[in-house]
Amino acid sequence: MNMEAIKAEFQSELNVVEDAKQLSSFWTKFLGKEGQIQGLMSGIKNVPKEEKKAYGQAVNEVKTWAQSLYDAKKEEIDKKAMMARYEEETVDVTLPAKHTAAGNLHPLTSIRNEIINIFAGMGFEVFEGPEIEDDDHNFTRLNVLKDHPSRDMQDTFWLTEDLLLRTHTSPGQIRVMDAKNPPIKVLVPGKVFRSDSDATHSPMFSQMEGLVVDEHITLCDLQGMLDQFVKAMFSGNVKTRLRPSYFPFTEPSVEVDVSCFKCGGCGCSLCKGTGWIEVLGGGIVNNKVLENCGVDSTKYSGLAFGIGMERIAMLKYGINHMGKLFENDIEFLKQFKA
Ligand code: PHE
Repeated sequence: MNMEAIKAEFQSELNVVEDAKQLSSFWTKFLGKEGQIQGLMSGIKNVPKEEKKAYGQAVNEVKTWAQSLYDAKKEEIDKKAMMARYEEETVDVTLPAKHTAAGNLHPLTSIRNEIINIFAGMGFEVFEGPEIEDDDHNFTRLNVLKDHPSRDMQDTFWLTEDLLLRTHTSPGQIRVMDAKNPPIKVLVPGKVFRSDSDATHSPMFSQMEGLVVDEHITLCDLQGMLDQFVKAMFSGNVKTRLRPSYFPFTEPSVEVDVSCFKCGGCGCSLCKGTGWIEVLGGGIVNNKVLENCGVDSTKYSGLAFGIGMERIAMLKYGINHMGKLFENDIEFLKQFKA
């Protein structure tokens, strides 16, 4: 085929190329290694010697011409494809955003964080002990002797003759005193286990133990700290009162009541008409417990308290059934979004 015919065909076929696929076969037909223009190049061997130069030049011109037309077409097609994509991927910025629900902390986690924050402000550190304890840490060294009723089969989940699921966070006291010397000021948060279940009891619940051991620690320090705690936790207007109680590991032992933050102390359903709500137990660390941990009880004294975290959460948020805190009912939990 002669040059003019190829040019004419090139031109007319290029005119009808519409997309990248057609352009690619067009390229193969004319500009590819085995294409017609390359064919013209190879045709030089049949041209008489004296015409070779002119022929070569002419083919080169065709090649440059073809390439530039091809490039222009390619640019046009690329641009068309890009515009089509822009069209297709258009984002309507006026559409309302998709709602992604952010999670929130479980109320017990919030309470735990809040208690830690309050006591951290008074210089307490956090220590965590194991949930599986032995008799020694959970009972004996806390002065809970062999025949004490709290060891009863009904309360304690025994795993072996010696191992059990801790029934309180108080074994943390022993572990901390074993690990460090006074002055001590720690919180021990954690899960505890007792064979007990009703509206206000669950076989698993959480406590926050507090322990302070130093020189001259008295019941006044305990009440002062707990006063600060309930004011920060419930309301600036509440007061605490201590009532005598009994725990084998504290002497004297107290129950701590807070004046009702709902009715201000006049009596309502929350405080069952008494004006006071029981919030925790505590006392002065029994000398026997200090001695069991090698702490010199003639030099040091200690205070300890145990806060039931579910109880605090129930009081603070007005929850009437402890089970609600463990059911993972998403509708219930959503209400605690901070
Ligand atoms: N361990 C006690 C309980 O579980 C609470 C407590 C802790 C009492 C520390 C006194 C001192 O009931």
